[in-house]
Order: sequence, then C-alpha cells, then structure tokens
Amino acid sequence: MTSAVSSPDQVVFVVDFGAQYAQLIARRVRELNVYSEIVSHAITAAEVAERKPSAIILSGGPKSVHIEGAPRLDADIYQLGIPILGICYGSQLIVHQLGGRVVRNEQGEYGRTTLEQSSGVTSELLATSTSESSTVWMSHFDAIETVPEGFTAVASTANAPVAVLECPERCIWGVQYHPEVGHTDGGQELLRRFVHDLAGCEPSWTMDSIIESSVEAIRVQVGDGRAICGLSGGVDSAVAAAMVHKAIGHRLTCVYVDTGLMRLGESEEVVDTFRRHQGIELIDVRAGERFFERLTGVTDPEEKRKTIGELFIRLFEESSGGLEDADFLVQGTLYPDVIESGSDTAAKIKSHHNVGGLPDDLQFELVEPLRNLFKDEVRAVGSQLGLPDEIVWRQPFPGPGLGVRIIGEVTPDKVAILQEADAIVRHEIEEAGLGREIWQAFAVLADIRSVGVMGDERTYAYPIIIRAVTSDDAMTADWARLPHDLLERMSNRIINEVDGINRVVYDITSKPPGTIEWE
Ligand code: XMP
Repeated sequence: MTSAVSSPDQVVFVVDFGAQYAQLIARRVRELNVYSEIVSHAITAAEVAERKPSAIILSGGPKSVHIEGAPRLDADIYQLGIPILGICYGSQLIVHQLGGRVVRNEQGEYGRTTLEQSSGVTSELLATSTSESSTVWMSHFDAIETVPEGFTAVASTANAPVAVLECPERCIWGVQYHPEVGHTDGGQELLRRFVHDLAGCEPSWTMDSIIESSVEAIRVQVGDGRAICGLSGGVDSAVAAAMVHKAIGHRLTCVYVDTGLMRLGESEEVVDTFRRHQGIELIDVRAGERFFERLTGVTDPEEKRKTIGELFIRLFEESSGGLEDADFLVQGTLYPDVIESGSDTAAKIKSHHNVGGLPDDLQFELVEPLRNLFKDEVRAVGSQLGLPDEIVWRQPFPGPGLGVRIIGEVTPDKVAILQEADAIVRHEIEEAGLGREIWQAFAVLADIRSVGVMGDERTYAYPIIIRAVTSDDAMTADWARLPHDLLERMSNRIINEVDGINRVVYDITSKPPGTIEWE
C-alpha cells in the first residue's frame, strides 16, 4: 500500500538525536512557514545531498558525546555547504566532530539561565537580538570548552563558556541552549534568523500552499478512481475527508458508523456538517442496537474494546461493500503517528487504540493527505476548508466511545445517563473558557452505587466521575486544576438534571500512573 503526499521544494531537516525536542523544533520551523521534516541521525551525506534540504538543524539529545555508541552525524554532511544549526547536543557534536573540545562540566545547568553576549565580537545569529543579556533555557551537563578552528564563541552563560558559536564561512552555527522552548527569550527569533536570513528559506509553507499541494497530490494519486473514508467524528478523519473531497468531489464517499456509544448530539452534528455544509456523499450507519446486543454481559475492558472494534470493522466492510469500484481508502494519519511508528518501543498499554483503523488485508490503497502535518496544522487546514469550530477543536475521543467510559456492562440506559452528564461537563468547561486549555474533559459512569439523600428521600444511585486533564500529546497528562466553583456547578447540575446520579467525584490522578480513559 502506498500513499502520495506532497512535500514542498524547500525543506529543513531536523536531525533527531533522541531527545523529545526534535518534534518541537520541527513545529517551530513550520511556524516560520517553512516545511520541516524529522530525519534519523543515521542519514548519510549521500542521502542528504540527494534530498537537498535548504538547512539542517541538529537537535538536542540525552547522551554525552563521549559515551561509546552516542549518536553521531556522518561527518561528510558538514562539507556539503548546507547551512547547519546545532542545538544543545547538536552543537556539542559539531564541536566534537570538527576538532574542538567538549568537557564534562563540574556542574550541569538545567532550566533558566542568563546568556551574555561577548563584547567586541559580532554575531550573525544574534544580530537581531535586542539586548546583550537574555534569559535562556538550558539542559546540559557537558560543556563546550574550545571551539573548532575557524569558529568564534560569541556568547556564554555561568556554566557554559561557549553558549553560542559560529563559523559563517562554513555556514555552521551552534547554540548550547534551547531556542525552541517558550521560556527562552528571543528563541523563535533566533530560529527565524537562521531559517529565513542565514539559510535563505522562503516563508512559503502556508495553509493555502498546504491545501493546494495536497489537493494536487491526491488528484495525481487517485486519478479518476473512487475513494472511501471512514469518519469517526474526530478532527483527523474529518479534515482528511474535507481535503480529499476538495480534490475529487463526488468520487469520495464517507461512511459514518454510529455505534450508539457517541456523545450527545454527536452523530447528528457529524452527518449535518458533512452532508449539508460540505456536500459530501455520506453513508450513515445507525448500528447502536447491534452494538448493545453484542455487548450484553461483557464487562472486561479488553473484551469490550475487542467486541466494539470487530463489529465496527464488520459494519464498515458491509456498508462499503456496495462501493465495489473504490480502490482508495482515506485515512487521517498525522505526522507524529508516522514518526512514532518508526519505533516500536512504546509498550502496549491498551489494545485497539486505533479502533476505526482497519485491518491490513483490506484491498485498498491508502490516501493519507495529513501524513506530513502536525495537529495544530491539521486544525488550521480544517478551518480553512470550512469545517466548523465544533469539529476542528473537538477533543480526542476514543474509538470505542462511551463504551470505555462505562465501567461494567454497557446498556442503553447507562449510555443515556452518561451522555447527559458528559454534555454538562463539556458545556461547563466551554462556558468557563477552558475548552482549548484542557486536553480532554469528560464524565465516567462507575459500576457502583452509593447512598444519598435528596429531599426527604433516601437514594441509592450511581456516581459520576469527572475526568479533566491537561496534556500535549496524551502520552503523559496531569489532572486539570479546575476552579472549585466550576466543579461545584458541574456537580450541582449533574445531580439535579441527570436521573440516576446522586454523587459526583473528581479524578485527581495523573498519567502515569493512571491512564486518561478509565478502561
Ligand atoms: P489513555 O487512556 O491510554 O488514552 O491514556 C490516551 C489517548 O488515547 C485516546 N484513546 C483512544 N483513541 N481508540 C482511539 O482512537 C482507542 O481505543 C482509544 N483509547 C484511548 C484517549 O481518549 C486519549 O486521548
């Protein structure tokens, strides 16, 4: 299976040395309207010469250059004349490989520190910096002691005698600190200076150009064929479908399977958006009853996920079976998925994370128009393509839906209770203006009952658990410090408005050790 995606003529390579910073650097470059790609440190000079990047940024990394097996760069890359910026480990590596000296410092430097420009030397990298001393973010133990021949040290900090080094003749620059993190003053300006001014990249990676080139690539790939797309209600599949629709119009058919486990009003919204506003041909499969039937007596979380996943795929195949002439399947794969699937180190915590994803033996060629994009770019593209904020800014929602937010057996009654409570939680978060700050906020229905008193009546009913987390990527998450009056409002409304609930609790577990979902 292949998938054509477009990438523009100018690209900045971000060489990954194993830190979590590479993705952030790549995103920062894109914020400068220049396309960037993350590449392995094992890339050879020949491969680089063939791809002809306009610039190369060497990322930070957790190792010391002195450790055996520490990642290196093919040294011939330094001879290609392509502008290079080293960051943290990247700058130490430049020094180490080109004949300077990196030493084990007496003390590491972590967090905020003050950068001082050396007096009497001019700096190309810091030329647009407005003050001689600034706050930067550091995270290193080793330090550069002497620069390679031809290089100049132009700034220092308390524990980094060489915090910025330059060799304009060879087009190589380096910084010991992290310009990509928000805490570094002028960090983005430094990256801009390198990418736009020193490397000469044009700021041409814009939403319009992304859409234009993707549409072109889809047309080339699909030709006059037909494509189908499974909509989940989430932002990725929605934007992928809108993009493909722009490229091939009515030759795209979408399939939406309503499992009966969706949030309140969600299915109507999806169908309305795609059919009415986007004019996309949509097969709308209402399959709640079949899912409930299958889920009778199923309480084990893994079995639940498996049951839902299998039926979903069966229904998708059934309903797309009428489209025998479709050769292409549209998927909303994003760039971080592409980067992460390169490694298989992530432990399998829960199975079927891609319910709605499809088995390998389906005879389709994949069309993945978002394969090069980060989530924030996908949202911007979605808005540009005319999708409403409710879809573009929708929080992640698991494939098995409310099925994994109902502990114990899933029944239509429980789904109805949870839908109402969940709608209150999400509404109050939006009203409080926290919608974009909170990664996910939702309700969970527990499988226990507790005693309460309402009016003069004793009650014995279910509790609702409120879960609200902040996160950047769902790999780790923290429980959101929601204001007490907001929690109180949610609690009062849920108990007063949702029959069958007499108690509300707030989940104060981070991930790890918890997971975001309860099952
Ligand atoms: P956990 O619960 O593992 O969730 O911390 C991490 C993120 O993944 C979402 N999630 C899923 N998404 N299918 C999906 O498409 C699934 O089966 C699934 N399970 C969890 C979850 O909502 C969170 O954003």
